[in-house]
Amino acid sequence: MSDQTSPVAIVGGTGALGSALALQLAKAGVNVRIGSRKLESAEEAAGRVQSRLDDANAPVSGHVNEDAVSGCEVVFLTVPFRAQSENLTNLKNAMTEGQILVDATVPLAAAVSGKATRTIGVWQGSAAQQAQEMAADGVTVVSALHTVSAVTLGDLENVHEEDVLVCGNKKAAKARVAGLIELIPGLRAVDGGPLEAARIAEQITALLIGVNIRYKTHAGIQFTQLPDREWQTPS
Ligand SMILES: NC(=O)c1ccc[n+]([C@@H]2O[C@H](COP(=O)([O-])OP(=O)(O)OC[C@H]3O[C@@H](n4cnc5c(N)ncnc54)[C@H](OP(=O)(O)O)[C@@H]3O)[C@@H](O)[C@H]2O)c1
Repeated sequence: MSDQTSPVAIVGGTGALGSALALQLAKAGVNVRIGSRKLESAEEAAGRVQSRLDDANAPVSGHVNEDAVSGCEVVFLTVPFRAQSENLTNLKNAMTEGQILVDATVPLAAAVSGKATRTIGVWQGSAAQQAQEMAADGVTVVSALHTVSAVTLGDLENVHEEDVLVCGNKKAAKARVAGLIELIPGLRAVDGGPLEAARIAEQITALLIGVNIRYKTHAGIQFTQLPDREWQTPS
């Protein structure tokens, strides 16, 4: 199950970030399963991706979340923070040992009617660590994609040239996720360290939202002076 074209699920794939990710991964030839709480919404979202790609045979399909994740080595979680625990609870019996859960949720204060330029404290340290605590035994959480705008990601004309921090405790899982991210033209996956560093990556998103409001844009982040580095591939 470790080749780059094995199916990938996106829980919350009907939303802004998830559908943009589905579009880019399907364009890259990845078999994408869009997950939703409603089958009809997932199928509609899959159809939208196929029409954006002008390809009725593009490798994307719609499923209820629990079916979407079944058998997928990599599962992206792109739901609002306020819905993260509900979705993880629903997935608890659907996900199994060996799967990778890529958490993109950001604990923005907007989840409790606060500002999107602030985050709220999460007892475990970050949304990603909360996901790891809630995930089924043997599921490895990797944190990524927080600083990538759904608007730019969903724009097939956009030249990205931006970095994506990937945090996690297992190098092989991070490498697998990095490989998928780097299938998207212009995105470079940067090793952000252990899962606990997700706390910082998530906070950067709130800062970035403020910058983007002031500059009226959808900027991402880019590190300078990073040498090329091979990701440690799964053994
Ligand atoms: N938007 C961005 O540019 C961006 C960038 C980086 C990170 N993020 C993070 O990525 C996550 C998703 O952001 P988004 O903007 O894509 O969110 P969104 O469009 O508001 O929602 C994504 C999907 O979450 C699903 N969902 C599951 N349970 C839900 C509930 N109880 N209430 C509402 N929706 C629920 C919905 O799918 P179904 O109804 O089909 O189940 C919805 O389509 C957030 O944590 C956000 O902070 C977003």
